[in-house]
Amino acid sequence: MCACGVCHSDLHMIDNDWGRSRYPLVPGHEVVGEVVEIGSEVRHLKPGDRVGVGWQRSACLQCLDCLRGNENLCAHSQATIVTGYGGFGDYLAIDARFAFKIPAGIPTHVAGPLLCGGITVYSGLRAAGMSSGQEIGVIGVGGLGHLAVQFAGRLGNRVTVFTTSEDKARQAAALGAHRAVIVPPGDSPPPPVERLDIIISTIPYALDAVGYLAHLATDGTLVFVGVPPEPLALPVRELIRGRRRLMGSGIGSRSRIVEMLSVAERFGVMPLVETFAMAEANAALERVRRNRVRYRAVLLAE
Ligand SMILES: NC(=O)c1ccc[n+]([C@@H]2O[C@H](COP(=O)([O-])OP(=O)(O)OC[C@H]3O[C@@H](n4cnc5c(N)ncnc54)[C@H](OP(=O)(O)O)[C@@H]3O)[C@@H](O)[C@H]2O)c1
Ligand SMILES: [Zn+2]
Ligand SMILES: [Zn+2]
Repeated sequence: MCACGVCHSDLHMIDNDWGRSRYPLVPGHEVVGEVVEIGSEVRHLKPGDRVGVGWQRSACLQCLDCLRGNENLCAHSQATIVTGYGGFGDYLAIDARFAFKIPAGIPTHVAGPLLCGGITVYSGLRAAGMSSGQEIGVIGVGGLGHLAVQFAGRLGNRVTVFTTSEDKARQAAALGAHRAVIVPPGDSPPPPVERLDIIISTIPYALDAVGYLAHLATDGTLVFVGVPPEPLALPVRELIRGRRRLMGSGIGSRSRIVEMLSVAERFGVMPLVETFAMAEANAALERVRRNRVRYRAVLLAE
């Protein structure tokens, strides 16, 4: 492995928040490495290629979802760190169809966060109907959120961030945000000033869904990629009013990953990272846990 991002989902897995962790667990699913060996049937990769691997390590490739190009929705999907060992190790054995060549313009130490954080927000925003000329809201400016701000902004949208952090609100413009709203932890957002076409929630904490729905324009969509710990409480009239939609989205298909990497290279979406030696993995995880990282921790092989 050359480099590996630290996603909040690694922490969820270490803590068994989702009740499906198996130990020993090797975290790491924003992996960048060099191919050292290929199977006899592999044609599209060769030793020496620089590739990335994300959350998904395989799918059946035969079901209707797979045949439609939605491998990320496959019922037989396997996750890199759930049914195998992840990118904090020295080597990774992976289905070659889930390893993606990294475009030349994306440096190794920043490429990893695109493979989970990047694809999750890019695919979620696209699934929610993001094109250009829209008003996009991003809740939480962490590993996922700072990439959502960049993708939405670089593709010609105006971006509003909702953040608990005053210094991130100050720095939001540098990421490409038009507006920043400070929402202290556990609080509701203030009443809307501008209406948003799409809001993407990237936070793993409880939030006031009704308060955020009020920020949506007619036909707007609130899309969840972050996983709050408790079910949402929501009067349905809040959806009927303004014909608003709620949706969830998980990672992205293989074609979306290739598209996302190309968009990132061509439009200059680059993860902002703090790098750590692999031996400092626990310190990096602790910084993620304490919401100290600006904006993604990446472990580098020694
Ligand atoms: N759906 C998927 O496929 C998918 C893929 C990857 C990750 N995820 C999930 O997405 C979530 C975010 O992952 P990440 O790696 O981006 O995490 P992260 O880097 O830790 O960012 C989470 C953000 O939440 C905000 N936050 C922190 N404490 C908060 C609090 N008490 N109340 C409200 N907001 C708070 C912070 O933003 P501010 O400092 O701006 O407030 C923080 O940066 C996790 O639940 C992860 O499991 C889902
Ligand atoms: Zn992840
Ligand atoms: Zn399938």
